[in-house]
Amino acid sequence: MAIITNIEDLRVLAQKRVPRIFYDYVDSGSWSESTYRANRDDFAGIQLRQRVGINVANRSLQTQMVGQDVTMPVALAPVGLTGMVHADGEILAAKAAEQFGVPFTLSTMSICAIEDIAARTTKPFWFQLYIMKDRDFTSRLIARAEAAGCSALVVTLDLPMMGQRNKDLKNGLSVPIKLSLRNLLNVAHKTRWWTGMLGTKRHSFGNIVGHVPEVSDTASLLQWTAQQLDQSVSWNDIRWIRQRWHGKLIVKGILDAEDARLATRHGVDAIVVSNHGGRQLDGAPSSIAALPGIVQAVGHEMEIHLDSGIRSGQDVLKALALGAKGVYIGRAFIYGLGAMGEAGVSRSLEIIHKELEITMSLCGITDVKQVDQSVLFKAPQTYSK
Ligand code: GLV
Repeated sequence: MAIITNIEDLRVLAQKRVPRIFYDYVDSGSWSESTYRANRDDFAGIQLRQRVGINVANRSLQTQMVGQDVTMPVALAPVGLTGMVHADGEILAAKAAEQFGVPFTLSTMSICAIEDIAARTTKPFWFQLYIMKDRDFTSRLIARAEAAGCSALVVTLDLPMMGQRNKDLKNGLSVPIKLSLRNLLNVAHKTRWWTGMLGTKRHSFGNIVGHVPEVSDTASLLQWTAQQLDQSVSWNDIRWIRQRWHGKLIVKGILDAEDARLATRHGVDAIVVSNHGGRQLDGAPSSIAALPGIVQAVGHEMEIHLDSGIRSGQDVLKALALGAKGVYIGRAFIYGLGAMGEAGVSRSLEIIHKELEITMSLCGITDVKQVDQSVLFKAPQTYSK
C-alpha cells in the first residue's frame, strides 16, 4: 500500500474501498457543487505569514471547545450514514476521537445508536440533533443523549429541506434505496467493506429503530424518516430545546451575521459557521468567507466554531486566525474511516495535528490559544517596481 502522508491519500484509498453509493453520498455537494468547491478554494486563497528567528521549541496545541479540554481545536463533525462507510463506523470513529482527545459528534441519522457509543467509550461525546416533526421522539432523543452522558447538543438548523445532491439521485440513494444491478456489482468488488458489514448487525438508523412504534421494517423506517424533516423549525424550537437540555448547546448551520445575532438571544453556548459541507444552499458563500463578518457581529458574545472545507492543519490555522475557537472535520475523518477503519480515523487526526503543529511553528507561533489575525499575510497596499 502506498504511504499515507495526507488527507488526500486517505480519500483516494476510501474511494477504492467504499461502495460508490456511500462514497458519493459523503463526497458530493448540492446541485452545481459551487459552494462545495468554494469551501476548498477559499481556504487555498488565504496566505500565511512566515516568521523566522522565533524560538518555537516548546509548542502547545491544547485548548478548549465549549469549556472542554481538547488535544487540538478539532472535533469530529456529525455525518449521517457513517456506519455505512465502514461497519460500526460511528463506534470506531468515537473510539479514535476519545483516544486522541477530541470531541466526537454522533449524528441523529447514524447507524450505531447513542447507547451503542456510550457503551463503547468512557468519556462524554456530543450529539447532533435534527428537530423532527414528531416532537415526542425529538424530546426522547434529547433525554437519551442526556442519559448517555453527552456533554453537548449540536442542533442543526440548515436543513428544513434537503439540498439536492445529483450523484445520490443517479446512484439510487433515495427513499427507498434502489439496489440496481450496477450498485450490486460495485459492492461485490469492495471485499473489505462487505466482509465488515457481514460481521455486524448494525445496518439501519440505530437512533430510530425500536424507538418509534410505527416503524417496524425497512420500508416503514425509510418512509417515516423521509416524512420527519420539519420545515417549520424556528428559533422558538431552540428555546424549547434550551428548556430540556442542561448541557452545552451548539447551533450548527449559521452563515449570516443576522442569524448569529439571533443565536445570542437564545441561550446558545456556541455556533457553528457552516454551509453543511456545500450540501445545502448551492451558491452560498464558503464558511471561511462568511466567518469574519460573523466574528465581527457576535465574536465578543459567544464562541464560534467552523466546519466545511477543512482538510489540513493549515486550514485549521486559517480558521483560527479569522476568529474560530475550533473547527470540525467531516469528510477528512470519513476518508480515513473508509480507508482503514478506526486506524484511519486516528491517522486523519494525526495528520492534521502534525500539519497544524509544523504550520504554527513556521509562522512563529507556539501556543494555539494565541493564534490571531497577525498570522495571516497581508499584501502591502501599493507595489512599485
Ligand atoms: C445530512 O445531514 C446530509 O447532509 O446528508
